[in-house]
Amino acid sequence: MSQVNEKVLREEVEKRRTFAIISHPDAGKTTLTEKLLLFGGAIRLAGTVKARKASKHATSDWMEIEKQRGISVTSSVMQFDYNGHRINILDTPGHQDFSEDTYRTLTAADSAVMLIDVAKGVEAQTIKLFQVCAKRGIPIFTFINKLDREGRSPFDLMEELEQVLGIRAVPMNWPIGMGRELNGIYDRMKNQVELFQGDDHSQIKVQKVEDYRDPIISEMAGEYHANQLAEELELLDVAGDQFDYEKVSRGELTPLFFGSAINNFGLQTFLQNFLELAPKPAPRRSTEGEIEPVREKFSGYVFKIQANMNPAHRDRIAFLRIVSGKFERGMSVKHVRVGKDIKLAQPQQFLAQDRDIVETAYAGDIIGLFDPGIFRIGDSLVEGQSFEFDELPTFSPEIFAKVTAKNALKHKQYQKGIDQLTEEGTIQVFRTVSFDDTILGVVGQLQFEVFEYRMKNEYGVDVQLQRQSFQFARWIVAPEIDPSKFRINSTLVKDKKGNYVALFENEYAMRTAIDKNPDAQFLEMAP
Ligand code: G4P
Repeated sequence: MSQVNEKVLREEVEKRRTFAIISHPDAGKTTLTEKLLLFGGAIRLAGTVKARKASKHATSDWMEIEKQRGISVTSSVMQFDYNGHRINILDTPGHQDFSEDTYRTLTAADSAVMLIDVAKGVEAQTIKLFQVCAKRGIPIFTFINKLDREGRSPFDLMEELEQVLGIRAVPMNWPIGMGRELNGIYDRMKNQVELFQGDDHSQIKVQKVEDYRDPIISEMAGEYHANQLAEELELLDVAGDQFDYEKVSRGELTPLFFGSAINNFGLQTFLQNFLELAPKPAPRRSTEGEIEPVREKFSGYVFKIQANMNPAHRDRIAFLRIVSGKFERGMSVKHVRVGKDIKLAQPQQFLAQDRDIVETAYAGDIIGLFDPGIFRIGDSLVEGQSFEFDELPTFSPEIFAKVTAKNALKHKQYQKGIDQLTEEGTIQVFRTVSFDDTILGVVGQLQFEVFEYRMKNEYGVDVQLQRQSFQFARWIVAPEIDPSKFRINSTLVKDKKGNYVALFENEYAMRTAIDKNPDAQFLEMAP
């Protein structure tokens, strides 16, 4: 690669930001995403993403959702340019299509924006998604949304972040009033006040100030609010955390922003600060050590496979995160697992600037590859020297069912279907140690529906699913395992690699097993 190209490569990597928005349903993810896309000019009309979401979620019927699959493919990754940055937002489905894919998608992000409803605080799905990000140690930025409504006090929310998620927060801005009394926000980094004006608060006035004690604030927002702001920020200065870039980078401290997505309050400053602080594409570990994004040869890995449910089109789309180098349409790469060269002929980009087919892409970008059934989750595609990226983590399922084929004569197709759908990451499969039963594990109910449907339509097998009362799965690492210790409200199974996994009906059973087996480790992800 020539000198010039190396420079281009560096610049392209430098300007990229690839992140996921994590939240509980209804916190405002669709609204925030849409506003960000509007800033970037990727869409022109507010309501576009919303309309997609509405058509996607107006129904709880899985087949209906599937009819919209084309839509969800294009909105799975959104790319746009803003202020010299190229931004990739990874969508993490939050409603009924919450699944293990959601977790895996997070492995393709370099940072996360955690969106929280000011009135509701930290909610269940946020906790799960946060934990996956925290395990990877990626930077997490927090946006407290819906400040135009009455909500909880900012201090209260900061305490909750620490108590529930174990992360301390450093407020980057601070609300002046709240709900109907919301006047604006104070930007602590830039020492400026953003005041909302007009009956519908649609105009925003920005005023530089000396500091939060500046008398201008009182003139702008009234004495009462100015005093309250000064008191609260003084308290933060004394008792709060200092901004520490290193801690943010390691995911130990979360920069905290307040705003209202629907009204654009605080969004511009959030986006600017976020783009400054969020990391550029990070290296990924492989059998050849860390692969840097500026490595000149192309490499990437598949983190998600989406099947086309239309029986007439059995094709699938494999989502590939580019880790290094430059992607060019038509290039040949090595499919490492199968040891073959393949041509990347018709890659798709998602909601890019009016383009469907990608010509070039760089580290941090996500491309969709047409998959005639040759990819598995975690596959590495590389140019030049051969190596494989670290395996993607297997996440702990939370819903379980015993599966059998209704017609025993179809055993061969049944086994083939289970094997392939496991590889694709549709379900996880376990076998009980005691009776050799097959137990499926998922994190979202929809995964079972997908499994059942695809077994019938692609493999011609009717399956019977019998829900089990387990709620937790833990991989066990121990010098010796005694199955008799896993009998009360629990059972011992093996995963597809032969690792021991204990399934528990409740937390009490899990704790008892942990107490009874002091030499064993109980892991939430496969070792
Ligand atoms: P989600 O993707 O996280 O599920 O949330 P979504 O953006 O769909 O937002 C959920 C609801 O919260 C929507 O109301 C949306 O308008 C509202 N919302 C989002 N941001 C704000 C905000 O800053 N302030 C206030 N007050 N509301 C906000 P909805 O009634 O469910 O839908 P709609 O009829 O308003 O479209």
